[in-house]
Amino acid sequence: MSNIAYIPGDGIGEEVTRQGIKVLEYLDGVYNLGLKFEKFDLGAERYLRTGDILPDDVLNKLESFDSIYLGAVGDPRVEPGVLEKGILLKLRFYFDQYVNLRPIKLYKEEFSPLKGKGLEDIDFTVVRENTEGIYAGIGGFLKKDTPDEVATQEMISTRKGVDRVIKYAFEYAQKFGREPKLTVCDKSNVLTYAHNLWQRSFKEMGKKYPDVEQNHFLVDAMTMKMVRNPEVFDIVVTCNIFGDIITDLGAELQGGMGMAVSGNINPESISMFEPVHGSAPDIAGQNIANPLAAVLAAGMMLRELGYGNLTPKVEAVVKQALENKMVTADQGGDLSTDEVGDYLVKTLKSNE
Ligand code: NAI
Ligand code: MG
Repeated sequence: MSNIAYIPGDGIGEEVTRQGIKVLEYLDGVYNLGLKFEKFDLGAERYLRTGDILPDDVLNKLESFDSIYLGAVGDPRVEPGVLEKGILLKLRFYFDQYVNLRPIKLYKEEFSPLKGKGLEDIDFTVVRENTEGIYAGIGGFLKKDTPDEVATQEMISTRKGVDRVIKYAFEYAQKFGREPKLTVCDKSNVLTYAHNLWQRSFKEMGKKYPDVEQNHFLVDAMTMKMVRNPEVFDIVVTCNIFGDIITDLGAELQGGMGMAVSGNINPESISMFEPVHGSAPDIAGQNIANPLAAVLAAGMMLRELGYGNLTPKVEAVVKQALENKMVTADQGGDLSTDEVGDYLVKTLKSNE
């Protein structure tokens, strides 16, 4: 039994997540998962109609769910940032979703931007710390707008914050890693306090996971390796800012935002799964948006809900859709968003 809060959001959010829901409903029917969905009206329409962004009674209600499945928010009629901050960031903060999980997986050989690197090579997962680091928002100005201005931005690493994300990464590696291997990515040679804590935490925690191979990359070396030999990575754990940057590099390695998926996770509370792309107002309402990232996000949610055996099935049909060009125009096909969803369900059925 799992209760899923479904927030389609704005623009193409509704069109792409509808396909994810189709896939989930199909799997639910076949495997008796007991999934229950409740749709939440959040986003631009509600804001423009009522002035509400994410009211407290909705937040309270969300607490009783197991997971959140989200499309995208953002609308040209609303000032940039209002919905993104008021919904996405607020949910991440409220539920203390301290892990941002970003699989970097190439699904089609010809999307690879790297010469000679294919499906076997580009397949790893980044576990990004999602609540602290240099994005904690601590800092200030002195003598602002004068020639003597000073601006500071502090990098916060707490023992609790670092330990919990590293622990999550070890457990994730143990359960879902290929080899399994966990790489810690930091800048401990220069950030001799903050990332010294990361090093100590990683080494101490690592003793409890002797079956997980452990190694270390400085972030600059990491970016080079991601381009030259991405196959050396299995699971990677890193701080907030480095995670932000290397996951965007990773999204390009896997063929762009159309395939990139993100999980905002608190293993003890409520996690949220979404495609990385936005609401794409330029193509909204035309039934041409690519739903594959939204469908992969649904697959990722299944893993977090404890149905990890079904995630590879979802990944497999996405791969088949790409191979058979049963995809939208941006991926070289000529299907509509809905038709891609129908194809995925039909293919799941025939794969049984
Ligand atoms: P975007 O990702 O929405 O669109 C960028 C470009 O990619 C557009 O040309 C769009 O048509 C295309 N695109 C995006 N997703 C696609 C899909 N599934 N299939 C086919 N083409 C796709 O980013 P943009 O334009 O910067 O932002 C639009 C709105 O979305 C803004 O309000 C922004 O704040 C919001 N946004 C929300 C996010 C979220 O909810 N997580 C993430 C990023 C942006
Ligand atoms: Mg980014």
